[in-house]
Amino acid sequence: MIIVEDVSFKYKGSNNKILDNLNFSVNDGEIVCIVGKNGSGKSTIGKLIAGITKLKNGNIFIDDVNISMGKNIDLVRDKIGIVFQNPENQIIFNRIYDELSFSLKGLSKDEVESRIDMALRQVDMLDFKDCDLYSLSLGQKQRIMIAEILAKEPKYIIFDEPTTMIDSEGKEKIYKIMKSLHKSGFTIICITNLADEILLADRTIILDKGSIAYEINKKDLVDKCNILKKYGIHEPTLLEILSSLKKFGITLDLKDYSLDNFIRAIKEKLL
Ligand SMILES: Nc1ncnc2c1ncn2[C@@H]1O[C@H](COP(=O)(O)OP(=O)(O)OP(=O)(O)O)[C@@H](O)[C@H]1O
Ligand SMILES: [Mg+2]
Repeated sequence: MIIVEDVSFKYKGSNNKILDNLNFSVNDGEIVCIVGKNGSGKSTIGKLIAGITKLKNGNIFIDDVNISMGKNIDLVRDKIGIVFQNPENQIIFNRIYDELSFSLKGLSKDEVESRIDMALRQVDMLDFKDCDLYSLSLGQKQRIMIAEILAKEPKYIIFDEPTTMIDSEGKEKIYKIMKSLHKSGFTIICITNLADEILLADRTIILDKGSIAYEINKKDLVDKCNILKKYGIHEPTLLEILSSLKKFGITLDLKDYSLDNFIRAIKEKLL
């Protein structure tokens, strides 16, 4: 479990309070989306949780271990991976094997091989194992960045706008990976402003100027989708349809906001 407790933050040399007394938690196995307008502090809280930026005010507990003031970072670093928006900025090596094995130093060759195969399989990129990274599309590069994290066998994965730069086919592939990671028990924080990613979340936290404006549970999304609009997030089409149907007295309780589920539920209701 991740607990963020009374976290405030200012960047060095600036008087602006970027985060102002944030309190929230992420339960094991959840997907939590953090959304908000540009500059609301989403990436900053992601980097604080991942231990990339040092926390000076407040506490962040990763499985009961407090990482404030840079304490215990080595203890928790293996537990958390972070995927950034632009894979091009993260790639160091040209060979996929070199890229993925870089952070697996100290493990036996067999263990490295088996972890790399397992990770590439999870992102459906095993067939590309011997390819050069620079020959891949942006979406495929992003899947390799996800594999790099999976090879380290973390418990928590933070995605910071993972599909913003990727075409719609590539986006769908990454959503599929996120869903399957969720199913296999990973705990995921997804920083995003994309409606489709919010539909994957068990809970959505809306940040506004460094504070939490709202927390919305998945089951309340239809009734509260106008709140998303207020904070600059384009309302997901599916939620818009569900909300309109509700106004006509047709309530569909979807466990999963996928188009397939919607079609199944509407057929059951109307046919
Ligand atoms: N290294 C830094 N030094 C100083 N200010 C920074 C630094 N990084 C971010 N900021 C400022 O902190 C604020 C919050 O930034 P952050 O990147 O956390 O927001 P965000 O919600 O992720 O925005 P976006 O949607 O654009 O990614 C912004 O005003 C930004 O300019
Ligand atoms: Mg950001």
